[in-house]
Amino acid sequence: MTSREEYLQAALGAAVQRYEERNKRSRELHLAALESMPGGNTRTLLHNPPFPTFMKRGEGYKLFDEDGHEYVDLVAEMTAGLFGHGHPTLLRVLTETAGTVGLSLGATHAAESRLAALLCQRFGLERLRFTNSGTEANLHALAAARKHTGRRTVVAFSGGYHGSVLSFGAPLGKDGGEVSFGPGENTVDRDSFVVLRYNDADAVRRVFREREGEIAAVLVEGMQGSGGFIPGRYEFLLAIQEECEKAKSVFILDEVMTSRLAPGGLQSTIPGLRPTLTTLGKYIGGGLPFGAFGGSEPVMAVYDPRLPGTLAHSGTFQNNTLMLHVGHAALSQVYTPEAAVAHSARGEAFRARLRDVAGGTRIAFTGSGSFACLHVSEAWGRRGGGDGEGGSVTCKEDGGPEDEEVKELFWFYMLERGFWVQRRGNIALILDIPQEVLDQFVDAVADFIRDHERVLKL
Ligand SMILES: Cc1ncc(COP(=O)(O)O)c(C=O)c1O
Repeated sequence: MTSREEYLQAALGAAVQRYEERNKRSRELHLAALESMPGGNTRTLLHNPPFPTFMKRGEGYKLFDEDGHEYVDLVAEMTAGLFGHGHPTLLRVLTETAGTVGLSLGATHAAESRLAALLCQRFGLERLRFTNSGTEANLHALAAARKHTGRRTVVAFSGGYHGSVLSFGAPLGKDGGEVSFGPGENTVDRDSFVVLRYNDADAVRRVFREREGEIAAVLVEGMQGSGGFIPGRYEFLLAIQEECEKAKSVFILDEVMTSRLAPGGLQSTIPGLRPTLTTLGKYIGGGLPFGAFGGSEPVMAVYDPRLPGTLAHSGTFQNNTLMLHVGHAALSQVYTPEAAVAHSARGEAFRARLRDVAGGTRIAFTGSGSFACLHVSEAWGRRGGGDGEGGSVTCKEDGGPEDEEVKELFWFYMLERGFWVQRRGNIALILDIPQEVLDQFVDAVADFIRDHERVLKL
């Protein structure tokens, strides 16, 4: 009888071998990419040993790779690909805008305030500014908080991810970076951050006592995204809000991922929650690069160019016409408030089925609405697999290290079954994905559990 470790090594070795045989063109393209980019990579998350799968094109909810395989896209561009590939309404607006308006006007134009007004109304913001990415939205929200309060310290949470230079230890998994729960090496201005455990309301109250008059802002996700779709608890988010109000600090809720979960964002589902600033990104540009931050008028006034001594916030493509026109169509015509409610409900039902098939194993599925994340370990299976969102796991440290080899095996397995999933386990649903395709994925998860029962038993 082989040990668990031997079983996993053998299964993974065989999966890698099959992958290499099935993806010869991807391997060639990877070797060529090594000549011009470090590791052949320009986006660390997409670095997948032995070499990444090179995609050629997308169509609706499907992707097609360079070696001729077809996949159901459950990565959905890390939630930004909500509309799938080539949504007809968005395509029409995209080509019309490019043809009749032009790409960048180098001037103020009406499409800016049209989308800004729509977003302010939908997400309950008084004022808003655009950026090119979610990372920039958070950076500028932090700058606003610091300017407004005249303080520097920012409280963030382990497992939190707020952009490429605002990462607080979201584990990337084997060969994809180290698991560390402090600010990463490339976290901007890292010494000014205090990093606490996610969902620890007591730690929040304590830090405000210990650092009285020092805290400019608390930066937090209402549900950790890259950190594994771990929902924030009501008491925790409310404690942040209360402490920020008392200390006149700025409460920044990062809704870059979560704003799609309900018509007014995740915050609209939490009674009494009203962050000072909200940051947005991902799907809102209809698939084009997008970011925005906004909220309290007095705080956002630090960017009012009519006032003396305010902050500059420039960026060549911040008011690019394609994003502004397509983004407006995406929110007003496609992802309407009703569509958001319906999509989240479908996601809830999908995740409930995933949890059913995974019950009693080392696998747990966390998430909310149209997001789900696979976690694998004994602790996750015991504590996170059962009742409620995330069971009793409330932060990364609670769940402990995961069985990264099993997660890898899952990744290779799903690729062979024609499902494009993230190696770290996050899944996001494209808007028009057919129900029977979701059912097929649930069946594939059940098959994976049956085929590898040996390493998944509790
Ligand atoms: C919660 C959260 N904030 C910010 C970002 C950064 O957004 P972008 O990749 O557009 O810079 C991300 C990206 O994954 C995110 O999930």
